[in-house]
Amino acid sequence: MGADSDRVGLRRAALVRSYDAGETTVVLGEGGDGRALGGDSARLARAVLELLEQPRSMTELVTLLEHRAGAPLQSPEQRQVIESLVGILRELGAIEPAIAPRRGGAPHKPGARVVLGLTGAVATMHAPALVQALLERGHHVRVAATAEALRWVRPESLEVLTHRPVASQLWTEDRKHLVPHIELARWADAVLVYPASATTLGRIAHGDYSSIVSAIALTTTAPVMLAPSMNAAMYASAAVQRNLAQLVDDGMHVVRPTLGIEVADAPDARTPTLGAAPPPKVVLQLLETMLAQAHGGRVAGHGPEDWDAMYRRAAEALPWHSDRVDDDLAAAIATHVPAGAAVLDVGTGLGTLARHCAAAGHRVVATDLSAVALERAAAIDPDAAVVWLQDDVTDSHVRGRFDAIVDRGCLHLLTHEGARRHAASMARLLRPGGVLLLKTFGAQAAATRGTTAYDRAEVLALLGDAFALHDDRASTMPGPDQEPPAHLFVLRRREA
Ligand SMILES: Cc1cc2nc3c(=O)[nH]c(=O)nc-3n(C[C@H](O)[C@H](O)[C@H](O)COP(=O)(O)O)c2cc1C
Repeated sequence: MGADSDRVGLRRAALVRSYDAGETTVVLGEGGDGRALGGDSARLARAVLELLEQPRSMTELVTLLEHRAGAPLQSPEQRQVIESLVGILRELGAIEPAIAPRRGGAPHKPGARVVLGLTGAVATMHAPALVQALLERGHHVRVAATAEALRWVRPESLEVLTHRPVASQLWTEDRKHLVPHIELARWADAVLVYPASATTLGRIAHGDYSSIVSAIALTTTAPVMLAPSMNAAMYASAAVQRNLAQLVDDGMHVVRPTLGIEVADAPDARTPTLGAAPPPKVVLQLLETMLAQAHGGRVAGHGPEDWDAMYRRAAEALPWHSDRVDDDLAAAIATHVPAGAAVLDVGTGLGTLARHCAAAGHRVVATDLSAVALERAAAIDPDAAVVWLQDDVTDSHVRGRFDAIVDRGCLHLLTHEGARRHAASMARLLRPGGVLLLKTFGAQAAATRGTTAYDRAEVLALLGDAFALHDDRASTMPGPDQEPPAHLFVLRRREA
């Protein structure tokens, strides 16, 4: 690597699929596969990408890194760390030999509710292409636009694509949607501000809620991705850089810009400059990566293998695991589930609730997406009268009619679409008059854990057609080291 890079030199690729969030830097390869670098590796990657905005030899790169570190990086180990990171970035296409012609895939997690925030940056002209790309991936899209954004794109084109009105003001005449920024902030599984103008970045960095886009980005508990897009000098300015650093610190996902054109130059005088947002296709890949990461594998559509990995790693330490049944759930089961009932426990994990119901004399089927969880659950008490089944609640293959269904901490992990499908399965599987016991994290825990917070109104909106709400009370979700606030809902299947 050293000799080769010294001969040809290295540079940052024109198109880098990367974002920074807090201490982490995510870099994707062309196919959307990638690496999340943390701590020192992330800092090193950020420095390398910045220094290689100019073509440099490996030796020059190391010298400049030494200059930044304020100390020589001469030990073979230090040099090896730099070389292996450069190797990773090369493999991912983020840096390339400086003589190669300039060149530019995706994880697939469809079905998220995405609020797209548009601003007065020139790249807003690509908004219809991005909306189209999001829709093609199965996402649900609502658009919010600043007044300046609507100079670049007409709301009608976006409304035709999404079949939803574009929210362009905090105050609206629409009597059905009187507070659009709160409504959209709550609705979102993710907020994407693409492109993010310098002005909007400043608003968000300073907690300025005066535009619909900044108000949504600041209000939502969903992850927020910002794709800065501007003139190279604006991007390099101290104020913008300060705001970007603040936004990364604040937990926003800040996309690294790419080479783009400067519209202030005459068309025949344009040369590529750094500051433009990557094209829609790449932003879509980054957004889907953020969604998968933000939900830690808990969104519907995330594969069983991710759950298996979690249960293999540290089953008992998972935040929702408890080897004791929650007192209020035990009481609700005793009160509402008739003796010898057929009980379905969905998202059973290590099976605490399922074994409890079996011990109480019920006939229990317990399901989970993770085969590893089920194997471990079954091994805890091989004699427990529980049928363990691998099943996806959003596409359930369970058959039969149950007297009771228990869901402790499963529904709130799902996307809107996943929750809708789960609700339909519960309505199918529960006999009329049967009881559904549902426990979800409260709003505060939901915000930090990326789950969906359900209140009474939201539970009724999701389940009200098939179920009557019998009880709704504050609760907790005891886990290995804490008891975050939760809600316990008791519902009854309506007569068909
Ligand atoms: C022709 C033209 C192009 C512009 N392009 C950009 C741009 O790419 N990025 C940017 O940050 N601002 C750009 N601006 C400036 C923004 O439109 C301006 O800062 C505005 O206040 C942004 O407001 P908003 O963030 O509320 O949409 C441009 C302005 C004009 C007139």
